[in-house]
Amino acid sequence: MTGRTLDSIVVLTGAGISAGSGVPTFRGEDGLWRQYRAEELATPQAFQRDPALVWEWYDWRRGLIASCEPNAAHQTLAEMEQHCEDFILITQNVDGLHQRAGSQRLLELHGSIWQLRCTVENRVAENSAVPLPEVPPRCSCGGLLRPHVVWFGESLDPETLAAAFRAAERSRLMLVIGTSAVVQPAASLPAIAKDRGAYLIEVNVERTPLSTYADEVILGPAAEQVPKLWHRLKDITI
Ligand code: OAD
Repeated sequence: MTGRTLDSIVVLTGAGISAGSGVPTFRGEDGLWRQYRAEELATPQAFQRDPALVWEWYDWRRGLIASCEPNAAHQTLAEMEQHCEDFILITQNVDGLHQRAGSQRLLELHGSIWQLRCTVENRVAENSAVPLPEVPPRCSCGGLLRPHVVWFGESLDPETLAAAFRAAERSRLMLVIGTSAVVQPAASLPAIAKDRGAYLIEVNVERTPLSTYADEVILGPAAEQVPKLWHRLKDITI
């Protein structure tokens, strides 16, 4: 990779970046909770049918995530942001580990597990209680609270999504880290960047649908490979 500046980097991350911190991925072998797959619980229908069950799962995930620390890949991305004028980190993760590592220029496409939304008033509030004192939790108005995350079949926040598309369109270098690259619309961001001439680097423990058109595929755990990649990128002379 030559002739590129490091003044503009867009990064897309998925569950794989947090795997090294001990957070289970969605489609990996550890993605099951009891007998359920994420696709069975992370839906408005599942919540309507059994809010307590869905909340038990989220309460378990929140407890698990609270006991995890950001890893070297999260930390490297926070450092990258400090060195790069035009930097955007787009994440599909709801675990909050990027913020905990210090990232600020962050678009959380699928929301945050640390924010709750009232199903009656739509008000969103931060909540870091682990475990939750009451399952399912309720708003002071009496309405059910839900996680402020995007569930299967729901739309992404239009402003966040538009900002992600704008970033992909103007990016010259895009890093795609730890995502199976199958869930839309996030999965189309790398293709958009590539079509507009960006250089695309994928970091994953295995090949994905993206690998065929990425300019570089780095196979290995993100916590090992992202710091090495950053070391190499920093040394590029233009
Ligand atoms: P997935 O579970 O689909 O994919 C995780 C990816 O990380 C896979 O491609 C793994 O090969 C890779 N991986 C695992 N361990 C890794 C490691 N240590 N280093 C690097 N890569 C590793 O998760 P996402 O792609 O994030 O959506 O899934 C996208 C969305 O689907 C999620 O945000 C969630 C989900 O269901 C919603 O909840 C709306």
